[in-house]
Amino acid sequence: MSKKAQKFEGDPNTTGHEWDGIEEFDNPMPRWWLWTFYATIIWGLLYTVAYPAWPLINGATAGVLGWSTRADVAAEIAAVEEANAPMNARLEAADLTAIASDSELGPYAVSAGSAVFKTWCAQCHGSGAAGAKGYPNLLDDDWLWGGSMEEIHVTVAHGIRNEDSDEARYSEMPAFGRDELLAKEEISQVVNFVMSLSGEPQDVSEVAAGAEVFAENCASCHGADGTGDRSQGAPNLADAIWLYGGDYATLTETVTNSRYGVMPAWNTRLTEAQIRAVSAYVHQLGGGE
Ligand code: HEC
Ligand code: HEC
Repeated sequence: MSKKAQKFEGDPNTTGHEWDGIEEFDNPMPRWWLWTFYATIIWGLLYTVAYPAWPLINGATAGVLGWSTRADVAAEIAAVEEANAPMNARLEAADLTAIASDSELGPYAVSAGSAVFKTWCAQCHGSGAAGAKGYPNLLDDDWLWGGSMEEIHVTVAHGIRNEDSDEARYSEMPAFGRDELLAKEEISQVVNFVMSLSGEPQDVSEVAAGAEVFAENCASCHGADGTGDRSQGAPNLADAIWLYGGDYATLTETVTNSRYGVMPAWNTRLTEAQIRAVSAYVHQLGGGE
């Protein structure tokens, strides 16, 4: 037997649904709420027509207003570039050595250069420019190719041992072991001699013979005293600052197979103003000459 629900005075009508004696009151949503709800639906549909919305196979509908975040950013970049254009023109026209001392250009170049460095150089040289194995530290005054504003500018513009630029810095250390220019013993001797230049050799008895091997095979690039030659990018071997490493095993590897550090040319990707700015930035890091 189904029970009938109790009725009270003032109860709203029921919807007619009834289950096990429970009935549903008919309480419609307030009008204002319904209209707001419909309005949001219409707004939503119009929105997807006006703005990029519906996914397609390649991309999405563009929207009749033609708005895009990409275009917004492009406009902002264009505005900044326009604002910087006069400074960049001055930077390009300035004498390289005069940039640092110019009270306006100097700080501008360094801050613009710092941004360029973080975008294009930090991957290899580290965000703080301290370098890594094979990638030179740009904070110190130990330069492979030179630390004056002009030298840094040439290095950055043309790069090192690349095929992007005909004017890239170029030199190649022979692979003394791989190409059988030196015997294993001779390599061991010269490595001990190189270690003696900056600290403790592994085997003192080999140093004298190593000095001879060095004079005959290495001095032409690294200098008679091992202090290097910037015109060939040959590192100073006497200062205990190593590009690849100064322990016996690493030195043996360097002399056996040689190294071939490559840096891309930047004049194919950056503007002259950017190259000058990043050169000024590197120059003021601590080792600039
Ligand atoms: C793909 C890695 C790479 C990137 C990116 C790179 N470099 Fe280099 N850079 C090198 C290597 C490797 C060397 C050392 C080459 C050698 O052994 O002579 C070097 C050398 C240099 C030197 C010469 C240092 C010296 O002692 O003479 C300077 C200056 C320099 N880089 C600046 C920059 C700047 C500025 C940027 C960004 C615009 C940059 N590099 C981006 C790899 C890179
Ligand atoms: C033709 C010139 C040339 C000759 C000859 C030469 N080198 Fe080098 N050497 C270089 C250059 C250039 C580099 C830097 C290579 C690079 O970064 O790719 C270098 C790098 C090195 C390094 C790495 C230094 C570091 O900081 O990690 C060592 C060690 C070295 N040479 C030792 C020798 C020894 C020992 C000899 C003789 C047996 C020799 N070189 C002969 C040009 C030369």
